[in-house]
Amino acid sequence: MSDYAVLQVDKLRKIFPLAGGRRLHAVDGIDLTLHAGETLALVGESGSGKSTVARCVTRLIEPTAGDVRINGRSIRPLDSVALASLYREVQMVFQDPNASLNPRLSVRQVLHEPLRLHLAMPRDKREARARALVELVGLAPAHLDRYPHELSGGQRQRVGIARAIAAEPNLVILDEPTASLDVSVRGQVLALLRRLQRELKLAYFFISHDLPVVRHMADRVAVMYLGRIVEIGPTAEIFERPAHPYTRALIAAAPIAQWGVKRDRLRLAGEIGSPVDPPDACRLVGRCPLEQPSCRTAEPALLTVANGHQAACPITLGQSATLGQSALDRPMPSQTAA
Ligand SMILES: Nc1ncnc2c1ncn2[C@@H]1O[C@H](COP(=O)(O)OP(=O)(O)OP(=O)(O)O)[C@@H](O)[C@H]1O
Ligand SMILES: [Mg+2]
Repeated sequence: MSDYAVLQVDKLRKIFPLAGGRRLHAVDGIDLTLHAGETLALVGESGSGKSTVARCVTRLIEPTAGDVRINGRSIRPLDSVALASLYREVQMVFQDPNASLNPRLSVRQVLHEPLRLHLAMPRDKREARARALVELVGLAPAHLDRYPHELSGGQRQRVGIARAIAAEPNLVILDEPTASLDVSVRGQVLALLRRLQRELKLAYFFISHDLPVVRHMADRVAVMYLGRIVEIGPTAEIFERPAHPYTRALIAAAPIAQWGVKRDRLRLAGEIGSPVDPPDACRLVGRCPLEQPSCRTAEPALLTVANGHQAACPITLGQSATLGQSALDRPMPSQTAA
């Protein structure tokens, strides 16, 4: 890891207009930095805006506002030619390799394409590189002649990974890369990703709602709720000393008892809120057992909890300042009844 920023997301916003003039705030002003060689995980419930961030970062969709810089270069003003060259530096692996691989292309064709497009490699060099790539991801040269339907789910995702690393990017965005795989295959693909990261010095932007996997893979974790980053910090800090009520509830609900993490009894009421026309308030209002009147008057900003660890909850942070850290570990009276 180094201080060199491969990805900088600055006040990124993506608003989808809906019928009747309503606006869905899928991503609502987020800042993120991803350093060379590190894994930053983005976690949060379904609908919190994780994939929308990834799609804005790779310009699959146009952000409403804000800036994204990859290796220092803003992607906003890029034309399609410049954007193509950007895809040498950043690549994406999707959740469902069935949907992201063209069924009419052989593995060979899938792997030749980025080599031709991004590196302008002649055919013989492409073939040698394609062979090296399949081996790098744990497949055999014979797989080059196969079509996606002739491969297992795990093999297909290995092809998706090989395609992503073909043009030697330094940043790979992984959107739930193992969510569609059997549990038995999941661990192998995660091990492959870790090995490739080491060998190729890749930075990963790792989107997942599988907290055990995130704990295993990530150096840092950003927690997203309804379009906002509510907490960010080093992985151990986030799992062992989560500060935001949303993070605490997320971890309390995850199957992590075996890690010896202290049981937190904080629970949120109800289901995930609505990202449509959100008021200028904390997005957890109505769900949070720690709620105070001030939570309804302004959107809380990220505050420093510890070095590199920030959370957007002045209530928990205020409590921790006046009552000491142990107050965070005790259930609130209002929670014990639930
Ligand atoms: N093209 C679109 N038009 C309108 N709303 C959209 C569009 N794409 C996404 N959304 C909405 O934006 C919000 C965020 O969606 P997104 O797919 O980014 O969530 P996610 O965190 O990736 O969820 P999941 O864990 O289910 O993949 C959701 O409310 C979703 O319905
Ligand atoms: Mg998603």
